[in-house]
Amino acid sequence: MKIRVGVLYGGKTTEHEVSIITAVQAMEFLNTDKYEVIPMYLTKENEMYTGAPLKEMDVYKEPELLKRYCKNVVCYNKDGALVLQNKNGLFKKIVATVDIVIPAVHGYNMEDGNVQGLLETYGIPYTGSDIYGCTVGQDKVFQKQILEAEGVPVTKYVWFYDNEYYENETKIIDDVKKLGFPVIVKPARQGSSIGIKIAKDEEVLKEAIEEAIKYDDKILIEEVINNMTELNCSVLGSNSYMETSAIEQVMGKDEILSFNDKYIGNGAKKGSAKKISASKGMASTDRVIPADIPEKLAKDISETSKKAFRALGASGVVRIDYLYDKKSKKYYVNELNTIPGSLSFYLWMPLNKEYDELLDDMINIAVKRFKNKLKKTTIFESNILSTFDGTKGTKGMKGKLGQK
Ligand SMILES: Nc1ncnc2c1ncn2[C@@H]1O[C@H](COP(=O)(O)OP(=O)(O)O)[C@@H](O)[C@H]1O
Ligand SMILES: [Mg+2]
Repeated sequence: MKIRVGVLYGGKTTEHEVSIITAVQAMEFLNTDKYEVIPMYLTKENEMYTGAPLKEMDVYKEPELLKRYCKNVVCYNKDGALVLQNKNGLFKKIVATVDIVIPAVHGYNMEDGNVQGLLETYGIPYTGSDIYGCTVGQDKVFQKQILEAEGVPVTKYVWFYDNEYYENETKIIDDVKKLGFPVIVKPARQGSSIGIKIAKDEEVLKEAIEEAIKYDDKILIEEVINNMTELNCSVLGSNSYMETSAIEQVMGKDEILSFNDKYIGNGAKKGSAKKISASKGMASTDRVIPADIPEKLAKDISETSKKAFRALGASGVVRIDYLYDKKSKKYYVNELNTIPGSLSFYLWMPLNKEYDELLDDMINIAVKRFKNKLKKTTIFESNILSTFDGTKGTKGMKGKLGQK
């Protein structure tokens, strides 16, 4: 019997559309000799739909098409699998059963551990990093703090919450000034360059902070790296084995690599022999693969990428983005993407790993992690309940649990 693979995507996030592109590409490349591919599309209201039309882009262009040709479902766990059942209608028919999930979600509310937590609770294997890696991966401040502690180079930064800014704007602006203008202002937990702005003076800085606060209550401000070029490297593996991809150099047209550069650019320079019928997603940005950089730098980036992957406890495929200062020849990890756009498949092709093989590897890693986790003790025998005596319990709680 084929393994039933659910591809979960969309959802309540600013990166909803980008997620559709990643998912449609993955569904197209999954090897159908081995897998039955089941779309699990979440609308922006988090309603789940399934059905074969979701494997093509057309259905997303008209909300009516979705309702007419696809099935609105709810899911629950049954006998170790995830069952998708008709939500509406008289008969609550099971329309699909899923053995393993590929989360192809991006961004806040989805990629940040929310979806992973849901799948953990269902008790179903899934590809990619777990809750911990994803949560840290989504928060640009957590990332910097953890990477710094592990000796991975990151840019100088300041961070704060919006309420702190409103209470003590002067102090925060002073702290930012110590970084030196220009600075770059980012919502801490967004993606796809949304809400990000460079500020060259105090006036623009304040505008940029107000803009970033629209997207998140946690704000990160960093020194701007001048003479900068962007290098990205993907890591595939787990905590027991890691390999790195080719390194790409991203050639953005704007001062910062914008949403347009990332997703609507001029088409990939390198392409798979197979056609990519979906929009090219991350594979469309103007890029040089492999990057034209000295061998030593490529080696250092590859080693640093594994170090960062390990620090996050990541799993599956991750893309690590670097800012490289061409003048000082220093590089900094800019961010980690735990579910990279297009799952970074184009970075593995120069190493002769086609997209279907990358997906196979991700599935194998996920199954291995799931089995390993089953071996760990999850039940802890305790006599707390037997000594807890009902209404008089408040005292007992204080005495026993209070010491936790
Ligand atoms: N410290 C920096 N100096 C110069 N440019 C930067 C810096 N940080 C980010 N950028 C530019 O802004 C883009 C978006 O920032 P990034 O942190 O990667 O956010 P996102 O999660 O939205 O991709 C980067 O791809 C890069 O072009
Ligand atoms: Mg980025």
